[in-house]
Amino acid sequence: METKTTVISPEQLRLQAQFCGEIKEFWAAQGITPVAFVDTYGCQQNEADSERIRGMLEAAGYGMTDTEEGADVIVLNTCAIREHAEQRVFGNVGALTHTKRRHPRQKIFLCGCMMGQPAVVERIKKSYPYVDGVFSTHHLWEFPELLLRVLKGKKRVFAVEDSAGSIAEGIPVSRTNSLKAWVSVMYGCNNFCSYCIVPYVRGRERSRLPEDILSECRELIAQGYKEITLLGQNVNSYGKDLKLGVDFADLMAAVASLDGEFRLRFMTSHPKDAGHKLFDTIAAYPKICKQFHLPFQSGNDRVLKAMNRHYDSAQYLSLVDYGRSLMPDLVLTSDVIVGFPGETEEEFEDTLRLIEQVRYDALFTFIFSPRAGTPAALMDDPFSKADKNRRFDRLIALQNRISEEKHRAYIGKTVRILADGRDGELLTGRTDGGRLVRFSGSDSLIGQFIDVTITDCTTWSLIGKL
Ligand code: SAH
Ligand code: SF4
Ligand code: F3S
Repeated sequence: METKTTVISPEQLRLQAQFCGEIKEFWAAQGITPVAFVDTYGCQQNEADSERIRGMLEAAGYGMTDTEEGADVIVLNTCAIREHAEQRVFGNVGALTHTKRRHPRQKIFLCGCMMGQPAVVERIKKSYPYVDGVFSTHHLWEFPELLLRVLKGKKRVFAVEDSAGSIAEGIPVSRTNSLKAWVSVMYGCNNFCSYCIVPYVRGRERSRLPEDILSECRELIAQGYKEITLLGQNVNSYGKDLKLGVDFADLMAAVASLDGEFRLRFMTSHPKDAGHKLFDTIAAYPKICKQFHLPFQSGNDRVLKAMNRHYDSAQYLSLVDYGRSLMPDLVLTSDVIVGFPGETEEEFEDTLRLIEQVRYDALFTFIFSPRAGTPAALMDDPFSKADKNRRFDRLIALQNRISEEKHRAYIGKTVRILADGRDGELLTGRTDGGRLVRFSGSDSLIGQFIDVTITDCTTWSLIGKL
């Protein structure tokens, strides 16, 4: 397997900028101002990639629209994490035959994680002839060139050659939010958890240089961004490939030391790489949110081993204890999978016990979905879908009870939030720990850090007053 990262040179990116210029001329010659629709599935990595796709499209003269109807180019940025995600994409691609019939000059592109799977690409080639272009995550930076080729030629384009992955600095970005920004610090994953498709579709771990990340953050702060989230599939293995002696905790400390009023978050950490130093750093810097998303996946040691997770439940719990010993109010969230192949009822009970013990503020819960090409897809699985659904319901009921208890405990407390928008009568904001708070106030507060006292709660949000 290819393991070397491809670094995309400034010359290569300048060439892409030229292609953007040519696309602009192509439309100007026809007296048309083109519009683009970009639809994103999956996680924040994809959201961050879509901001780059929009950035390239804007550089090529496209305006943005929020509907497929009448768009001159449609880009679906896809997710492969579970079967359900893929089915949604195929369903939506199917429906595009009609929009394209109504608007024949429409060009359709598919990109993102699904396009890193050769079987999916084959299916698109055979069964979806009206899709004009396909590119995998490694080829994102080449989008202007692919689009120009599709506009000028009659042939469909496919940029899906596998590689260990690329790093491209300086792709234009069009951010969707003016207060909160994603900053990818590393790409790919080396962990090969036995159920997961990500390492196959996003390539090997590769880190951006610290100075590139710091200058991006500095610029964001200068532009008035109030919240920065450092992103990576396995963010706490940041820097291992660079061999500069800078790890993720060092990077966080450096960003948190930048001047300006902002807060810092990060997503997602793997427990095997979450050392005490990272917790110490979170505790030490006021700008770092006291929140940790630390996926445990299962509370049973046999299952964790079969998942290839490289920690056991005792090690996981000791990390949680350490974090809480430093920060008693640390907000903990996590991911968990129900119904991993062969998971017995007793093994599932271990997961419930771990949840009871940790008492997470929020949980992202998933039913195991076999992904072709991963080891878990080949494992024996004697339990039925109905068994798994029953377990899933028990897990949700348990977490809902805990979430509600945790919500109620906020009543009477004063929390600092970043006011980020309006939802009907009330303003909205998020606490350090990511809790949604609704309160009444004037729009001039949006974009400010303010203190609110919590007076009430629902299952999903806290109600506060200034
Ligand atoms: N890199 C992150 C997140 C990966 S995807 C991490 O390791 O934590 C987000 C979550 O999707 C995972 O944490 C896992 O709980 C879930 N997931 C991944 N593959 C899955 C599969 N095949 N079936 C069900 N859930 C899955
Ligand atoms: Fe997937 Fe595991 Fe990598 Fe997360 S750490 S992306 S679950 S392989
Ligand atoms: Fe999906 Fe790719 Fe993210 S598979 S969850 S969009 S890394």
